[in-house]
Amino acid sequence: MAGVLARDIRKTFGDTHAVDGISLTVADGEFMVLLGPSGCGKTTLLRIICGLEQQTSGDLMIGGQLVNEMPPRARGVAMMFQSYGLYPHYTVRKNIAFPLRTTRVPSDVIDKKVQWASQLLGIDHLLDRRPRQLSGGERQRVALARALVREPTALLLDEPLSNLDAKLRASARQDIKQFQQRIGVTTIYVTHDQVEAMGMGDRIAVIDHGRIRQLGTPAEIYDDPADMFVATFVGAPPMNLITNNSGYLGFRPENFLPKEMIDDGEFTEFSFRVDRSEYLGAERIVYGTIDGVESKQLITAKLPPAHVPEESIRPGEWHPYAVRNHALRRFDKDGKRVSRH
Ligand SMILES: Nc1ncnc2c1ncn2[C@@H]1O[C@H](COP(=O)(O)OP(=O)(O)OP(=O)(O)O)[C@@H](O)[C@H]1O
Ligand SMILES: [Mg+2]
Repeated sequence: MAGVLARDIRKTFGDTHAVDGISLTVADGEFMVLLGPSGCGKTTLLRIICGLEQQTSGDLMIGGQLVNEMPPRARGVAMMFQSYGLYPHYTVRKNIAFPLRTTRVPSDVIDKKVQWASQLLGIDHLLDRRPRQLSGGERQRVALARALVREPTALLLDEPLSNLDAKLRASARQDIKQFQQRIGVTTIYVTHDQVEAMGMGDRIAVIDHGRIRQLGTPAEIYDDPADMFVATFVGAPPMNLITNNSGYLGFRPENFLPKEMIDDGEFTEFSFRVDRSEYLGAERIVYGTIDGVESKQLITAKLPPAHVPEESIRPGEWHPYAVRNHALRRFDKDGKRVSRH
């Protein structure tokens, strides 16, 4: 196993700055998530780490060794692509064994490694099938077994769950996280899904336009967003942002409540006009506007349905709503975080 260190990595394609100066340290055994919108440079960075793409500038170290000039195979990292790339005519066994067949590993060792990887992922009963005879989730595990069979020093996963339906994604998240913890392999996981990022990452690097906006634990990213991009990219519905003297005031929908639901501590009151509300079972999302402030989007409140006073969500009326002061976040006019209160 090995940590990964990127120092001021840049990659330009013509005049596109795909990766625009990324520095990142991934500790040995850490599960690091790269989170960001489409086109922000996530795949490019992964391809640079595994050696499929040469950076324009910057240094890359794996396990303490400078690998800038090292070919992909010698780096010992495995990458699993979004499309899985399984060979349709090969059995699962042959697909998993594939990365070993091009090396000089004796066939009995190959068999053992295929057994190990397939048992680890619970697909050892599927070894004689072909990919088309598998479900999406099983295919994903075959691709993962193939990435693991060479016992990589680091595992790079590029949106590995994006082909799965919502229910399967939830259990696959759990599977990946569990086996990662079991074998302790350094993992860099790319996604644009904030639920995956929050649920799986030891730390998350939020990326936009080829740069890291914030690097931190899921709790730090959510509670202390470094800027308005992070504040609105993570969290659903996103953080509310309203104009405020010289900058912006932010608060999460779950902290914006009918005033009578706040019975302790200091709070800031707003007059909220409800447009409509959605009952989603475990929560109710209320949409509306706040008197006297500007906001690009509708303001949202996320309320626990059982405790909401009926009259406080009546559409077309103004209601007293409030946010506890400790839940307010201030940003300057450029969108950078100012202070906690
Ligand atoms: N080979 C290439 N030639 C030219 N431009 C490229 C190339 N590869 C990527 N780009 C550009 O670099 C930027 C980053 O692309 P990248 O694939 O890394 O984004 P991403 O974050 O993985 O996006 P997605 O979430 O859609 O997969 C994009 O603007 C893309 O168009
Ligand atoms: Mg990508």
